[in-house]
Amino acid sequence: MTAQLDDQGRLRHLLSLDGLPRPILEDLLARAQALADGAARGGTDLRHVLAGKAVCTLFFEPSTRTRCSFALAAQRLGADLLSFDASTASTTKGEADLDTLKTLEAMGVHAFVVRHGRDGAVAELAAAAGPGTALLNAGDGRNQHPTQGLLDMLTLRQAKGGDFASLKVVIVGDVKHSRVARSDVQALRALGCGEIRVCGPAALLPDDDTLDGCITGHDLDAMLDGVDAAIMLRLQRERMADGLVASLDAYHRDYGLTARRLRRAEADAIVMHPGPMNRGVEITDEVADGPQSRVLQQVANGVAVRMAVLEALLA
Ligand code: NCD
Repeated sequence: MTAQLDDQGRLRHLLSLDGLPRPILEDLLARAQALADGAARGGTDLRHVLAGKAVCTLFFEPSTRTRCSFALAAQRLGADLLSFDASTASTTKGEADLDTLKTLEAMGVHAFVVRHGRDGAVAELAAAAGPGTALLNAGDGRNQHPTQGLLDMLTLRQAKGGDFASLKVVIVGDVKHSRVARSDVQALRALGCGEIRVCGPAALLPDDDTLDGCITGHDLDAMLDGVDAAIMLRLQRERMADGLVASLDAYHRDYGLTARRLRRAEADAIVMHPGPMNRGVEITDEVADGPQSRVLQQVANGVAVRMAVLEALLA
């Protein structure tokens, strides 16, 4: 695995929440909270922070919120922003991903925000990048989505306070294909979450060591009992072999979060979803838009988290 810390133990790339030291995680969350508070107060001008730095978003897979959120974060800190859409660029002429990166690096890009369909692709690019270049993983295959993990923890902390040991959190749905679930489980573990439950059909739970230490189950009603937060996942049909899910109706019946089901959770439980949501499949409109939903709060937190990460890597 490519080291994401330098010799002094400082963050050099953000590739994974796996093994990220807890103090670094806590510092990023604290800084993101301060930035979110600042924005809520009307915002101070932070454009000096990354003035003269260039950030490039390099997306080999589609994205709405992650890409826009990183772009806004970089601009709010005053960085020059390049947005590279791999579907319209020379990669369609067969240029290798590393050549693309090296080309942009030669133009003076200091940080690359990369989304890629293949597990480990961002770490590989980090290993080949020059000494002054930072790589930020914006989601690689089924592997990692570290900034989503961080923004989910920030959202949980805002709603429930910092005492993760007292929290019961359930992650529901297509865990097998979800980089969000992997990053969330690792972050929850690192912060000492009291109970991490993971619920989904057997075919959509990973069979490796991802869920070590989690309580796993297939009965959503039982798994929702008394939780403080439910993190719903998108059914990732684009990554799925045919036949893993019998039908969307059946999936909704067994694993869709409805208002009635949600009553099994604590009365003040929150509902999260990384987006994009399949409304009517893993979550109903009533829940997605209801009082317990923190979906838009997650999106707002994403900008603050990405500012904190860019600042830690580049300032
Ligand atoms: C997630 C992703 O791309 O991994 N989306 C996001 O970044 N907010 C989740 C998903 O696509 O289901």
